[in-house]
Amino acid sequence: MKMWSGRFTKETNALVEQFTASIHFDRALFAEDIQGSIAHVRMLGMQGILPEDDVECIVGGLRRVYARMEAGDVDLHDADEDIHMAVEKMLCADIGPVGGKLHTGRSRNDQVATDMHLYVRRHVHGIVEDVCAVQRALLDQATAHIETLVPGYTHLQRAQPISLAHHFLAYVSMYERDVSRLIDAYKRIDVLPLGAGALAGTTFPIDRHAVAHMLGFGDVYDNSLDAVSDRDFVIELLSIVAMIMMHCSRLCEELVLWSSTEFSFIELDDAFCTGSSMMPQKKNPDVAELVRGKTGRLYGHLVALLTTMKGLPLAYNKDMQEDKEGMFDAIAQVRSSLRLIAPMIATMHVRTNRMDEAVTNDYANATDLADSLARHNVPFRQAHEIVGKLVLHAIEQKKMLHELPLETFLAHSPVFTDAVYDILHPRHVVDARDSYGGTAIAQVRAALARARTRTNDTDAWLHAHWAFIARAQALLIDEQPIA
Ligand code: ARG
Repeated sequence: MKMWSGRFTKETNALVEQFTASIHFDRALFAEDIQGSIAHVRMLGMQGILPEDDVECIVGGLRRVYARMEAGDVDLHDADEDIHMAVEKMLCADIGPVGGKLHTGRSRNDQVATDMHLYVRRHVHGIVEDVCAVQRALLDQATAHIETLVPGYTHLQRAQPISLAHHFLAYVSMYERDVSRLIDAYKRIDVLPLGAGALAGTTFPIDRHAVAHMLGFGDVYDNSLDAVSDRDFVIELLSIVAMIMMHCSRLCEELVLWSSTEFSFIELDDAFCTGSSMMPQKKNPDVAELVRGKTGRLYGHLVALLTTMKGLPLAYNKDMQEDKEGMFDAIAQVRSSLRLIAPMIATMHVRTNRMDEAVTNDYANATDLADSLARHNVPFRQAHEIVGKLVLHAIEQKKMLHELPLETFLAHSPVFTDAVYDILHPRHVVDARDSYGGTAIAQVRAALARARTRTNDTDAWLHAHWAFIARAQALLIDEQPIA
């Protein structure tokens, strides 16, 4: 029998039951659902809405349901509808009709919103942790390769040599923005909807701030209609995740490119590659490719939920049940991607000799030659033209710029001196870019130190906020067995 069967005279059509059920995916919310219920029923006791005996009985029952769910010792069916109904049903099977008092002053609408806030909050904390692990792997590689030079590219054509650490630090900066977006979004996730009832509040003298405190929430929703119909926090998460995946995808694209025979700048560890069923020689960067591949699907989740929400009148509508699968998938995929990228970066082998070759046998030092002429009063446009002609001449001679004799330089401009050979040296080219945020080795060292400090700030944030998440989780643990 359905918990809402009173006003019905017929059984639900079997296909309707199947179509409307969410239990097969929202069961992932069981821990959050039970945390919310324990805080709610404790508050009902504190407010004298339920007798303490009933409260203790319900809390004990909920903790046993949690233990069974955690152990996988449950059989859930479409007829159970969703996780909220399933938990209540299991509770009532355990403690009898008193279990029916749990839903006093509450609706599934504020309940599901609370579950989602708890779930998203925990995982936003986890995603920040995962992003940080990738940053650390990048910072470690950067530390090891401050003086390793690699061609920097524009249009995927060699442009100017840069420090390899500078390249890695660009990704650290991208991920820093992601972390800052997550930390900012956390403020809007860390808000309790419970107590909004179905849409308008409740007739019981509840204390929403007490529930917020028990669950470690920083605030409560101000407006009951907004509390039950807001999914902005999920959309925000999905948009941040989309951006994180975009960053991961660009990084992975470079891993794919750099590990190809054509580049051979890096070799990925065997543990993070797979082979071919037909070609015995193959070692494929599947993980990097799959991260790149999953990115599109995660963009899809963002667009799907934005579209679901755009036409909904206030307050709750069943359409909103569609918020979950995309969110679960986005969180699972971004977290496993980050958790693979970190060790893949940490274990990759950098082929410094290949990079050195690429930097030396190249014309990426041409800008510096033009700059040197400009420094001697040659208008830059003219200097550009002169060096362009020199490069063309060198290409025709099958030589690098530094292999040309001084006479050749002088034939193109009397301003050149034998200092050209120093100017053309890749390390000189790199160190010449000594502007703040540039690739000069001294700048890179300073940038690396700044990035490490910011990562430590994030650690402090993670540590401070874990305490609130842990408060909600502690509600699940039977620290004082209840008779
Ligand atoms: N399974 C529902 C969801 O995910 C829970 C809320 C149901 N509320 C309702 N009034 N039918 O959105």
